[in-house]
Amino acid sequence: MPDKTETSENQMWGGRFLQGPAEIMEAINASIDTDKRLWREDIAGSKAHAAMLADAKIISGDDAAAIVDGLDRIAGEIERGEFNFSHALEDIHMNIEARLKELIGEPAGRLHTARSRNDQVATDFRLWCRRACEVATDGLKTLMFSLAQKADAHADAVMPGFTHLQTAQPVTFGHHLLAYVEMFSRDAARFEDARTRMNECPLGAAALAGTPFPINREQTAKALGFDRPCANSLDAVSSRDFAMELLSAASITAVHLSRLAEEMVLWTSPQFGFASLTDAFSTGSSIMPQKRNPDAAELVRAKTGRINGSLIALLSVMKALPLAYAKDLQEDKAVTFEAIDALALGLAATTGMIDDVKINREAMKEAAARGFSTATDLADWLVRELVMPFRDAHHVTGKIVAVAEKQRVRLDELSLSDMQSVEPKITKDIYSVLSVDASVASRRAYGGTAPENVKRESQRWIAALNREK
Ligand code: ARG
Repeated sequence: MPDKTETSENQMWGGRFLQGPAEIMEAINASIDTDKRLWREDIAGSKAHAAMLADAKIISGDDAAAIVDGLDRIAGEIERGEFNFSHALEDIHMNIEARLKELIGEPAGRLHTARSRNDQVATDFRLWCRRACEVATDGLKTLMFSLAQKADAHADAVMPGFTHLQTAQPVTFGHHLLAYVEMFSRDAARFEDARTRMNECPLGAAALAGTPFPINREQTAKALGFDRPCANSLDAVSSRDFAMELLSAASITAVHLSRLAEEMVLWTSPQFGFASLTDAFSTGSSIMPQKRNPDAAELVRAKTGRINGSLIALLSVMKALPLAYAKDLQEDKAVTFEAIDALALGLAATTGMIDDVKINREAMKEAAARGFSTATDLADWLVRELVMPFRDAHHVTGKIVAVAEKQRVRLDELSLSDMQSVEPKITKDIYSVLSVDASVASRRAYGGTAPENVKRESQRWIAALNREK
C-alpha cells in the first residue's frame, strides 16, 4: 500500500485518500483554467460568509477579521498577476482557500464552516451571471441609442422594403432601423427579467441539505446584493436555469444581431450599393485589390453559432441530471463565459458599424422606385377614389403593371391614357400616390413607415435611452 504523503493527497479533501489523482483524472477534473474568472465573486462570497459566521458567533471576530484581511490580500495578488493558480488545487475555491491558509494559518480552515463548494460555486456563478445580464443590457441600450440616432438622421430616407427579399413597398431607412430597436428592447427586457429571477442567494445551502449551524442566510444574501436566500437547499445547489435563461436571452439577441449583420453584408455589397463602411470597419483582400469586405458583420453573423451552441450545450448538460449537485455542473461555466464574451463583442462591433455606416440615399431611393413598389398605392387609390372592392382593384392594378412592364417604365412614368385603357375612370390625380415619397408619407397610421412617425419614434427612443444613462 502506498504511503500517505503530504504531496499526493489533496489538502482540501484528501483526509481519507492515500494517493493523489492519476494525471488524467487531474486533467479532467481541474476547472481552474476556466473558473479563475470567478475570483472576484468567490472572494466577495467568502468575505460575506466570514462576516456572517462571526456575527452568528460561529467563529470569533478575530478569525473573521484575519480571513477578510487575507482575502483582500489575495484579491490584490490576483489583480497584480502575482497569484499562482494550481491545477492540483482543482478550482478557484480551493486555490483561494489554500493561499489563505498560507497567509493567515489556522483561521483559514474555519472559513468553510457551514458551507460547501456546492453552494459556494452556485453563489459565485449567480453573481457572475447577474453581472452578465447587466453587461448585456448596457450593450443593448448603447446599440439601441446608436440605431435610434441613425434612424432619426434618416427618418425620411426611402429604401425598398422587402418581403421574400423581393421589392415589396417603399419604407424609410429610419423605420427599418427602428424595427431593430424594438427587437433589442425586448432582448434587454429579457436580460433584466432573467436578472430579477436569478437574484436569490444559494450560500448556506451547504452541500445539499442545509446546515446545523445557526447561520443567517438573510445577512449573506443582502451583503451580496441578492433579494433573498434560495428557499430550498437542494434547488440552490443543483439548479442552473438562471444560466440557461441567460443563454436563451443571449441566443435570441445573437439571432437578432445576425439579421442586422446579414443586412449590413447585403447593403454594403456592390449589387445593393445602399451603404458603405469606412476603412475603420472594412478589410481588404490580399489578392483582389478592389475588395472592401464587411468582416465585422460577417463575424457577428457567425458568432451566433457559438452562442446558440452554448445554450444547447448547457441544456444538454442539465437534461436528466438527478438532484442535487453532480460534477456535470462544472461544465456550466466554460460555455456561458464563451457565449457572453461573444455576445459582448458582437454588440460592441454592431454599435461600431452602425455609428460608422454611411448610406447612399439616392441609390436606396432609386432601388425603392424599381419593381413597381407603389402598385399597392395604386390599388389603394382605386379603392378610395373609385370605391372599388380591394380584390378588383388588385386585379386592375395587376393589368396596369403588366402594361408598364411591357413598356419598361415605372408606374409613375406610365401615361394616363395607358392607365385609362385598363380602367377608364382613372384620373390624373392617381399620380399623386405613385411616387415613393408619397407612398411612405401616406403610411401615417400608428406603426407605419411615414417619416413623421419615424421621427416621433426615434425621438421617443432617444429621450427614453437618454433618461436611463
Ligand atoms: N469546481 C466545482 C464546480 O464548478 C466546484 C464544486 C465542487 N463540488 C464538489 N462537490 N466536487 O462545480
